[in-house]
Amino acid sequence: LAGGGVAAPLLSAGPAHAADLDPGTIPKYEVPMPRIPVLKPSRLTSGTSFFDVDMRESDVQILPGRKTRVLTYGGAFPGRTLLATTGRRTVVSRLNTLGTATSVHLHGAHVAPEHDGGPMDLIAPGDRRSYTYPNTQTHANLWFHDHAHHHESEHVYRGLSAFYLLSDRTERSLPLPSGEFDVPIMLRDARFDTDNQLVYVMDDFLNRNTILVNGRPWPYFQVAARKYRFRILNSTNLRFFTLKLSDGGSFTQIGSDGGLLAEPFETTELRLSCGERADIVVDFARYPVGTSLELVNDNGPGPAEHVGKVLRFDVVRTAADDSSVPARLRTLPALPTPTVERTIDLRMDEDGRPHPNAYIDEKLYDHHRVDTVIQHGTTELWTVRNVNELAPHNFHMHLVQFRVLERNGTPVTGGPEGGLKDTVTLLAGESVKLQATFKGYRGSYVYHCHMLDHSAMGMMATMQIV
Ligand code: C2O
Ligand code: CU
Repeated sequence: LAGGGVAAPLLSAGPAHAADLDPGTIPKYEVPMPRIPVLKPSRLTSGTSFFDVDMRESDVQILPGRKTRVLTYGGAFPGRTLLATTGRRTVVSRLNTLGTATSVHLHGAHVAPEHDGGPMDLIAPGDRRSYTYPNTQTHANLWFHDHAHHHESEHVYRGLSAFYLLSDRTERSLPLPSGEFDVPIMLRDARFDTDNQLVYVMDDFLNRNTILVNGRPWPYFQVAARKYRFRILNSTNLRFFTLKLSDGGSFTQIGSDGGLLAEPFETTELRLSCGERADIVVDFARYPVGTSLELVNDNGPGPAEHVGKVLRFDVVRTAADDSSVPARLRTLPALPTPTVERTIDLRMDEDGRPHPNAYIDEKLYDHHRVDTVIQHGTTELWTVRNVNELAPHNFHMHLVQFRVLERNGTPVTGGPEGGLKDTVTLLAGESVKLQATFKGYRGSYVYHCHMLDHSAMGMMATMQIV
């Protein structure tokens, strides 16, 4: 598996790889977009919500016809959404009934190292373990995904992902669209065979050309002619999205990885690399009832007639709307003065050989090695460069929400990257300057490219906070 190629069957009854399913044979805009169900707590105490989630194989309806065998959190694809509140602890007990070791990472969380779900901190098959999330950070759309080293890419591809929506008083006090008008959307791609089974091949960015939205291919979503809040996650391993409305209409980005932006950002496109999140508000009031418009993706690779389509909105009714987007959404934390500067280089082999390696600072990930030692409490500036000529990457740090100070030497002031971030896009040749403060916990955490096939190929490193 680590060497790439067609993986040995991971699923217990995984059929041999039949011929590829042509994405053109999958009907578009014929199934409704499901709303992802909310996970129910198993127990509540005064300060803690407890959840139980087993990891298991399930057969789920993704495509018309035969079901698809996937790896799930609790039998659902994608997993059910865990709703958490700042100041109230969450404890999740995980039983691993899969035939493979897993590690459950809560992406974007400020959490102790032993609850972070790092790549070497595994739950063996048959074992159970509890993760505690203190929820001391401010509101943010976080997500769970597998992180078992060398296998994170295949495990996430096969289904191990779920939203974790952390809310706080600041967020709840705003008059944003809420309830049924606040809709999480998880985007991904996949490659299927003619038996409707997922095909996993490492670094297979050319062939994952079926777009899934909340677990279904190219669905439609019926909306009322009013404002909606969409919390969008790009949960793909390799695909970047540039999302637009098919009429070129504008919408408002109100949040990014680490919660709301300081101010709303009016735009006609939303770029999301792997692992990134964005909150947008779309006002359908400008469309007459009966209008259909698409959410399209203006980004490759793959045939535009497939990967250029994502979701169709059908405006089917009118509805009252007392929601609004305030001109100020939140106050971002002050930026302390950094005292340490570092440069981090991302590069993967681009010589065309089939099983490329991917590096951080020219080194493959080695969990025995500490790559960066950080003094607890320090604020640091990291210049992260993608030194490839062709390959895009992105960059994710565990533990912290950082700020993007510069992109390609140009200061970032406001806009979609002006808020709290934990994952940032780096197209070939790009660089970003990031600022982060490392406090709250000591211990080892990783940073890596969140194109998960790349991290599985070695593009990951360890920082130790001492
Ligand atoms: Cu979303 Cu280290 O991961
Ligand atoms: Cu990468």
